[in-house]
Amino acid sequence: MCLCMRNPRNMTVAVIKILALICVVILHFRGNAPALDNGLARTPPMGWNSWNAFELKIDEALIRSTADAIASNGMKSAGYEYVIVDAGWKANRRDADGRLVADPQKFPSGMKALADYVHSKGLKFGIYTDAGSEDCVSNAPGSKDFEDKDANSFAEWGVDYVKEDWCNTNGQDAKEAYRKMSLAILATGRPMVFSMCEWGDNKPWIWGASVAHLWRSTGDSKDCWDCGRSTMNKPGGYPRGWVLILDAQPPLAAYAGPGHWNDPDLLQVGHPGLTVEESRAQLSLWTILAAPLISTNDLRSMSPEIREILTNPEVIAVDQDSGGTEGTRVRVTGKREVWMRPLADGNRAVVLFNRSKSTRTVRVRWTDIGRKQTDELPLRDLWKHQNLGVLKGGYSVLVPAHGAVMIKTGLPAN
Ligand code: GLA
Repeated sequence: MCLCMRNPRNMTVAVIKILALICVVILHFRGNAPALDNGLARTPPMGWNSWNAFELKIDEALIRSTADAIASNGMKSAGYEYVIVDAGWKANRRDADGRLVADPQKFPSGMKALADYVHSKGLKFGIYTDAGSEDCVSNAPGSKDFEDKDANSFAEWGVDYVKEDWCNTNGQDAKEAYRKMSLAILATGRPMVFSMCEWGDNKPWIWGASVAHLWRSTGDSKDCWDCGRSTMNKPGGYPRGWVLILDAQPPLAAYAGPGHWNDPDLLQVGHPGLTVEESRAQLSLWTILAAPLISTNDLRSMSPEIREILTNPEVIAVDQDSGGTEGTRVRVTGKREVWMRPLADGNRAVVLFNRSKSTRTVRVRWTDIGRKQTDELPLRDLWKHQNLGVLKGGYSVLVPAHGAVMIKTGLPAN
């Protein structure tokens, strides 16, 4: 029997060494994976996607006027840059050369003209396709076996971001299917962000970093608090409330980092199914998750209150933190939760989240966020834009129903 088994101290050292070795192996493989390494998405992508507000009812006028709105209403200067046309843009048939074609009724000027327009606003252009034989709901051709051709079309049109869905993929291997598109994108020579939308069915967080910049970790999100609970464990894109999607994220935090992100789906901020407090809470929590911030509300008509939420620079700075560490839930006390994300400069972003239907006091203890009880930490409220002084031990605050308070703690002052 080895020595370590007889001496508890040696055994501890051996366990630590084994754990360290496992970490090194994991980091080695993550670091050297043949990633879609085109230097994009070093921080989580930000933008707008047409799906949740408009579904198939999209056309070039809508996309142009949305680009106009983003460029002029503060969204662009807040960091939202990708204007992503989701399902509904394709004609139902490829052309005689097998190329994808835009629906001539909805996009008569074609996708290149639309991309040019979006670029003229200083924004970037995103497009949707599917890894299977057909898109999900529009009877349009998918990219299966046409990866090179489609990636070339996207590059010719000036696409900057490709979202690839997972419908009608019977029998396909997810990793192989997405790798094909990933290599096709690389081969075009045009830098494009690649977003895998396979709903977490094949644990894309494990292999995704070698294929794409981001991968959906669950089925579709819907503009409700926790609807869809009964279908949530079924594979596929069943729509569900955003807190159910949130609950699926904590185990995945270690898989994210610069250039490769977990994607807990589109923001529901500003949709009628969310209260203003819920909108604020979702954005706060998505920044803790280092999530892509892709808005989906109608940006041409949003209220000043929602615009202020989506463009809060202090909250967005947390999402875009250069460290790229995904945060997680660090305390649950009934319906009161504390979520924390360590930032590159050693500070901590903290969300105090109240899931109950009435106002509650939520407390974060400094020991919850990797600090000492005796530490004196400078505090700032990121929604009120106020310094809260230097506090010892922790911080308690009243949080509205289904709402969140978001703070940032500085380094210990003592
Ligand atoms: C799937 C995706 C959604 C959206 C729709 C479009 O459900 O998960 O994000 O793209 O398809 O059909």
